[in-house]
Amino acid sequence: MKITVIGAGYVGLVTAACLAEMGNSVVGLDVDEARVAGLQRAEMPIHEPGLADLVARNLAAGRLRFDTDAAAAVAHGSIVFIAVGTPSAEDGSADLRHVLAAASSIGRYMNDYKVVVNKSTVPVGSAERVRGVIASELHQRAAVLPFSVVSNPEFLKEGAAVDDFMSPDRVIVGADDDRAMYMLRSLYAPFLRNRDRLLTMDARSAELTKYAANAMLALRISFMNEMALLADAVGADVEQVRQGVGSDPRIGTHFLYAGCGWGGSCFPKDVKALAHLGHTHGVGSQLLDATLAVNDRQRQLLAARVVQRFGPDLRGRRFAVWGLAFKPGTDDVREAPSRVLIEELLARGAEVAGYDPIAMASAAARWPDLSGLQYAPDPYAAARGADALLVVTEWREFRSPDFERLRAAMAQPIVYDGRNLYDPATVRALGFEHVGIGRGTAPSLLAAAPERLRA
Ligand code: NAD
Ligand code: UDX
Repeated sequence: MKITVIGAGYVGLVTAACLAEMGNSVVGLDVDEARVAGLQRAEMPIHEPGLADLVARNLAAGRLRFDTDAAAAVAHGSIVFIAVGTPSAEDGSADLRHVLAAASSIGRYMNDYKVVVNKSTVPVGSAERVRGVIASELHQRAAVLPFSVVSNPEFLKEGAAVDDFMSPDRVIVGADDDRAMYMLRSLYAPFLRNRDRLLTMDARSAELTKYAANAMLALRISFMNEMALLADAVGADVEQVRQGVGSDPRIGTHFLYAGCGWGGSCFPKDVKALAHLGHTHGVGSQLLDATLAVNDRQRQLLAARVVQRFGPDLRGRRFAVWGLAFKPGTDDVREAPSRVLIEELLARGAEVAGYDPIAMASAAARWPDLSGLQYAPDPYAAARGADALLVVTEWREFRSPDFERLRAAMAQPIVYDGRNLYDPATVRALGFEHVGIGRGTAPSLLAAAPERLRA
């Protein structure tokens, strides 16, 4: 089949490459000229395991190409995916500017029947808005052309995006016409281990499903983060609680890990957008509001503990931060908990040396305002002279460091383990002070915490 994918970011690029791998002829369209020029040379704009090989192979085979020419790209595909960003607007709603711009391009340049597939995460009712924009562009051209609009939200996770796309748990297609549904069933058939994994529904339900899924996951983590605060207060270990709770099959083991807060390009903006949608319709969700508030507090937790230990004035102190990406396996630093921590430490006058195996270049590019952040060439260089080490992202290479070398490098052997990577007793036996999240050992924080942590 001939496919066009508008947007060559995490979702669009993975979609384009995986569809080409299955033998389709795919054009990836992006407004970012530098990104397209790089992709034409098989240079990856993002880090995603397996993606570079997939793109290079399909470029070489002539099944995949990239373009900035909207007219040519839209004309190419009989199925046109929209996979552009939907960031948060000021009021927390999803900003649909890029989605509607993509819809305009489709209406302006389409020349025959198209199935327009919205893969971006969008509020309920967006399929109708996309349909309206395309119809209005066609009207202006005095063109009468048939098209369908389908909602097909994407559930891939960064760091595992290619695998997730190649063998999805489920594919959701929200459509109300048979022709479009048939084309999407054919397109997705090679990816499905079982036909039942393609769930069909109306477009509005598909749009809501995506938000509900992300919000449910974020809510679970926020709940466990609250349990962690309580565990610290009462002397319980949230890691043992997690295992005990997760072994109930009705609850399951996933997304129960307490830590220094959730981030990324999806959870924060999607929970906000869903909360906003509810308020707009008079069904404000107390759970969603709390999910967000708990996470804001959690992302302040490490900084608050440092302040509790070292005092509010951190001038003359030096801290090492391991992990800048919002989670391991990606170079994405959007809404990363590391940023909240580093900003607070720098604002209090501390020196901060950060290290991340993959995300340092994207952090430097995205955070030009954090000019005080020093980027270290390796984890031990970051720790040199540090009053404490703060582990923010659970990269594999942080799991079993050389603690002797670390202790020798640091000014004080203190580890704030923001992802509960280490066994507290073992690390203490090696001569470190260890402060985890909910390990029952952190000194009671809420009493002495800065105002916002007590909120
Ligand atoms: P991204 O920011 O990585 O990429 C978006 C790309 O679209 C950019 O390269 C941008 O230049 C391009 N673009 C913007 N407007 C355009 C236009 N009018 N025409 C052509 N190109 C245009 O975004 P992303 O992370 O891939 O997310 C895309 C959508 O998918 C969002 O709605 C997001 O919520 C959703 N989503 C993301 C993930 C994820 O893990 N990143 C997972 C599931 C769903
Ligand atoms: C998420 C959804 O999982 C995915 O289905 C959707 O398509 C896009 O949004 P992603 O943002 O890539 O994917 O990351 P995810 O693995 O979900 O992690 C999100 C955040 O939650 C990270 O900051 C991670 O550190 C945190 N997290 C995750 C926890 O704090 N505890 C957990 O148990 C799991």
